[in-house]
Amino acid sequence: MALERTLSIIKPDAVAKNVIGEIYTRFEKAGLKIVASKMKHLSRKEAEGFYAVHRERPFFNALVEFMISGPVVIQALEGENAVLTHRDLMGATDPKKAEKGTIRADFADSIDANAVHGSDSLDNAAVEIAYFFASTELCPR
Ligand code: PPS
Repeated sequence: MALERTLSIIKPDAVAKNVIGEIYTRFEKAGLKIVASKMKHLSRKEAEGFYAVHRERPFFNALVEFMISGPVVIQALEGENAVLTHRDLMGATDPKKAEKGTIRADFADSIDANAVHGSDSLDNAAVEIAYFFASTELCPR
């Protein structure tokens, strides 16, 4: 199996629910190491840039408004098959369709306030990690 890195964001709804620690525990129990971490209130420009690939989708403005509605916690995770392992922990985008025991099933209220983001491919993970972290901020262990 391959050692990978992925980008994770705990979104404003989950930060407001005070479940950062519970979500970090799930990462650690699944064998994912937090190799970089920061809490940040994203600017509109940062959120629009991060989601630029979705600019033409009907929910783009709502997604950006939501992501700047409060602080987020951003982390780079490292582990075996980190991208897929993390996507499995998150569950489906729509919490109504997310499997029981996943982060979204347990902590998300709706598809537009769905608790967490995770990179969907190894290539996107590299781009997304570099969007938020300088290489000197990554601390592999
Ligand atoms: S995914 O998770 O990327 O495969 O899903 P996708 O459907 O491509 O959605 C891309 C991001 O948009 C968010 N999303 C929405 N936001 C607001 N309203 C609606 N209806 C909606 N549908 C999808 C979805 O959570 C993805 O954001 P991230 O941050 O990647 O989870």
